[in-house]
Amino acid sequence: MDAIDWDDRYRATDRLWSVEPNVFVADRLGSQRPGSGLDLASGEGRNAIWLADQGWAMTAVDFSDTAIERGRRHSEEVQWVVADVRTWEPAEGSRGFDLVVVAYLHLLTDEMEPLIRRAVDWLVPGGEMFMVGHDRTNIEHGVGGPQYPEILWDLAEIVPWLAGLDILEAEVVERDVVGEDGTRVALDSLIRARRV
Ligand SMILES: C[S@@+](CC[C@H](N)C(=O)[O-])C[C@H]1O[C@@H](n2cnc3c(N)ncnc32)[C@H](O)[C@@H]1O
Repeated sequence: MDAIDWDDRYRATDRLWSVEPNVFVADRLGSQRPGSGLDLASGEGRNAIWLADQGWAMTAVDFSDTAIERGRRHSEEVQWVVADVRTWEPAEGSRGFDLVVVAYLHLLTDEMEPLIRRAVDWLVPGGEMFMVGHDRTNIEHGVGGPQYPEILWDLAEIVPWLAGLDILEAEVVERDVVGEDGTRVALDSLIRARRV
């Protein structure tokens, strides 16, 4: 989907994603000492806003005007940027992040890999790459999310892009999804890696 498709999707509803942060963001990052953070493909900013509330100095980037405008209305603490993450670069002088979050961004491998490799370079020593997305096994064994295997995440494919970082976590995790027919389980890839 391109920026226009995403914008249409956002405009079709008052709020596309939840107000609460992703459960793994809250669980894994909630107790960490805040620093500077970057949320790539932030959407309406549920994670960036929550992290800013925890004291992080957040920059949030998404190519949907509508999503970023909604985020801006909710928080003036976050620095909001409308841009395509495939080509966006942080400004000189603001390249060192203590945290880079990539949540539910699903691009083809030839777009995702260079993005992640560039984002690794934006981490300061000790900084964390935090990635969560729909796992490829979710199609068969989980619920929701895109149904195209070529854009779903596969740990064996992604972890090598983080070469040189300490891998803190790389696992398929279960996330409860509450729907009209009760609670079902979605399968996500969760990867956390620290720059040494
Ligand atoms: C499923 S949403 C996830 C939003 C947010 N990370 C979250 O977890 O709530 C995917 C987001 O990726 C954004 N996106 C997709 N491709 C992008 C690109 N090339 N550059 C910037 N944003 C992109 C979309 O606009 C959308 O907001």
